[in-house]
Amino acid sequence: MKATAHAPSNIAFIKYWGKKNEEDRLPANGSISMNLSNLYTTTTVEFSRLFIEDSVLIDDQVLDYETHRVIQHVNRIRRLAGISDNVRIQSYNSFPTGRGLSSSASGFAALTVAASAASGLELTEKELSMLARQGSGSACRSIPRGFVEWVDGDTSEDSYAESLYAEDYWDLRDIVVVTGTGRKEISTQEGMKITTNSPFYTTRLNHMNEKIHKIKKFLAKKDFHSFGELIEHEALEMHAVMMTSHPSLLYWTEKTVSIMKSVQRWRREGLSVYFTINTGQDIHLLCEGKNQDTIVSHIHKEIDDVELIVNTPDRGAHITENHLF
Ligand code: PMV
Repeated sequence: MKATAHAPSNIAFIKYWGKKNEEDRLPANGSISMNLSNLYTTTTVEFSRLFIEDSVLIDDQVLDYETHRVIQHVNRIRRLAGISDNVRIQSYNSFPTGRGLSSSASGFAALTVAASAASGLELTEKELSMLARQGSGSACRSIPRGFVEWVDGDTSEDSYAESLYAEDYWDLRDIVVVTGTGRKEISTQEGMKITTNSPFYTTRLNHMNEKIHKIKKFLAKKDFHSFGELIEHEALEMHAVMMTSHPSLLYWTEKTVSIMKSVQRWRREGLSVYFTINTGQDIHLLCEGKNQDTIVSHIHKEIDDVELIVNTPDRGAHITENHLF
């Protein structure tokens, strides 16, 4: 059987960094995110006894490391469905991969939805989210729609994401500023293991619940100023933990820092815009829809050689009929 899924990537406002259980991929803390309309993956999966082996093509390429992770995930689904047929997978990302733009979130969400359907499984949104989490943590947040909470949970069964609000709840924009072409040197999996030795790791974990509580309050009130202050501080705090680990993880480039400084200056000049950043050099600027054009024109005027990807909040992963093969 063949099935195709479309899944958005997501940007975490309060971030997942560190695991309390490596094997089940249980996060050390809960996280809150928004799905992104223009960073997405489309994946077609077909199971058949006629295929002589498993095959995985991502953006028309065979990628060894990714193929291994993808097949591990498909094996979970084959076990659940009780099938042993070989699989053919083809996947396209709308954006550059391996750069900290969370292609693993959209990638594993699309794979989970397409492979479950192609294997004949009929899973609930909660079950799909739990399953996607085992492929890549942040992928569980790309299953539900709009603005999403991933509750950390104590067991595999209670660690999954749920929608807080649909995509039309708040007219926010996430403007991704793509600053260069370099791939990140250290994967998030490796990075999370390393950073547990930062002296600030436990300090951060101690107030994550408080941050989750606050961001939910600001979302409920649509209080953009308080929301922005908190997400920018949260990103800087996560990076402070990364920078102070052994070895130190320093993902930013000069350009990343210069954009951060521009954002803070634009704010002093009265423009309401905040940044957040994951494991890479590219940076996400958050603003309300009414300020998108002004911010885009500021970027074009002041910052050379960057590509922009403007996102609105999006629905979650879903089946489509547009098969890739
Ligand atoms: O799900 P992973 O392994 O790609 O980790 C995601 C980590 C961050 O992007 C830095 C934070 C997050 O919550 O998305």
